[in-house]
Amino acid sequence: MYLCPEPKTLELKGGYYRFEAGTQPAVKTKITPLLAQKESYRIIIDENGVGIEAADEAGIYYGKLTLKQLLMNYRGCLPYLYIYDEPEYYYRGFMIDSCRHFFTVDEIKKMVNAAALFKFNKFHFHLSDDQGFRVEIDSYPKLTTIGSVRPSSDFGRGENDKTPYAFYYTKQELKEIVEYCRERYIEVIPEFDIPGHTSAVLASYPELSCTGESIEPKTTAGVFTDILCGGNPETLKMIYAVIDEMCEIFPGKYFHIGGDEAPKNRWNVCTKCQNKIKELGLKNAEELHGWLVNEVAFHLKKKGKKTICWNEAVRAGNVDHDNVTVAWWLDSTKASLDWANSGNPVIVESFTPYYADYPYGMHSLKSVYLYNPRKIKGMTSLGASSVVGIESPVWTEYIRDFATLGKMCFPRWLAVADTAWNGNDNKNYAKFLKDVVFFCEILREYGITAASEKEWNILPHGKLSQTVGFFRNSLTKDFVKQLLKKDEK
Ligand code: ACM
Ligand code: ZN
Repeated sequence: MYLCPEPKTLELKGGYYRFEAGTQPAVKTKITPLLAQKESYRIIIDENGVGIEAADEAGIYYGKLTLKQLLMNYRGCLPYLYIYDEPEYYYRGFMIDSCRHFFTVDEIKKMVNAAALFKFNKFHFHLSDDQGFRVEIDSYPKLTTIGSVRPSSDFGRGENDKTPYAFYYTKQELKEIVEYCRERYIEVIPEFDIPGHTSAVLASYPELSCTGESIEPKTTAGVFTDILCGGNPETLKMIYAVIDEMCEIFPGKYFHIGGDEAPKNRWNVCTKCQNKIKELGLKNAEELHGWLVNEVAFHLKKKGKKTICWNEAVRAGNVDHDNVTVAWWLDSTKASLDWANSGNPVIVESFTPYYADYPYGMHSLKSVYLYNPRKIKGMTSLGASSVVGIESPVWTEYIRDFATLGKMCFPRWLAVADTAWNGNDNKNYAKFLKDVVFFCEILREYGITAASEKEWNILPHGKLSQTVGFFRNSLTKDFVKQLLKKDEK
């Protein structure tokens, strides 16, 4: 029987419940206080048909999802069985970057629909970056008239197309995506990345940078020195206005405020930033970043939201623990470890192996499946228990089209889904591979062609050529070197 994620307990009872092929079996559902854990459920299939009991509505939904997978295995009958199931992590996420490469509403829905089948429950939607701002914001209209237009693109082809690339989502379109996700018990977590990765914002409103100089949205990947000025009160005014409008679109519990790769070169010499540092009695620009996170997290808290930020945002060590969750992608500095080891919440999105935009030669299917998010070097047992979930991001500067997006994410997202639901205690790679073969066929019906089996775990020679192929663009190579060096520190 092919299931993904594998249920925690599955006992076959012998015999089959039969119903007419092409019809649905009788299903009775019930919410029961006997099941204590959120999202947990049990399924009993016997001569009376299918019974699903759950702790809550979400549990009923996950029971029905498992039933849906069972029905993909059988025609006109289901084996008598007992299943008990509950998730390891309450945060089971995938991230799509629609800033570098813009994906249509229908394409996003296809990815969501496929991810939902494997019990993901958080869709982190990366909507602002150097290469484009993608949300209609009424109070700052230039964010889309200017900020959503990158003057040209390369997308890893090795040549710049010299053609403007201009896309954004209307509020109505985003609400449609939110509703589509809600029907699948998926919360959409929007990201407004601040104060770095804001070239598109600064192209729209150059007065918000430290220098005030005019720039364009970027046309390549990278880390850029122009970031929002941390000492200008207009910066917070803009951030709050954008957040307020985004919160009207995205009703979920979490809001992601980025915070990654924000070089402090400008803040170190900007009069406004330096004055703010003195006024607040802070030590340096890193602490100013921490202060900004606290201000924005407090604004979000007043709106009933929890804040997520990438781990560089807590580097200064002065971020209020209350209300902030760290998205752990690369950093293993003392500050990040202290954060986790003091029991503060962490979502593990480790660059290796969870970054789904990197080739299978670097992040093989097996390495994703076996990766243990509770075993990060330097994490204590309290740190490990602070891991509230995992997430696999897909960044898209080198993803040219939807077909490539599908191949990069699937089947690796099945491996992520399995760990997200089951943790690492009962890994069985041989069984998982069989499930993957089965579901890659199913995914075609979902409009997604997964990577072919020969790519999943390519041999050393293939690994080398695939990785070299990926690094043909030297910018990426330097960028990755820089990332890896940072990780060693
Ligand atoms: C990141 O990859 N810059 C979070
Ligand atoms: Zn400044």
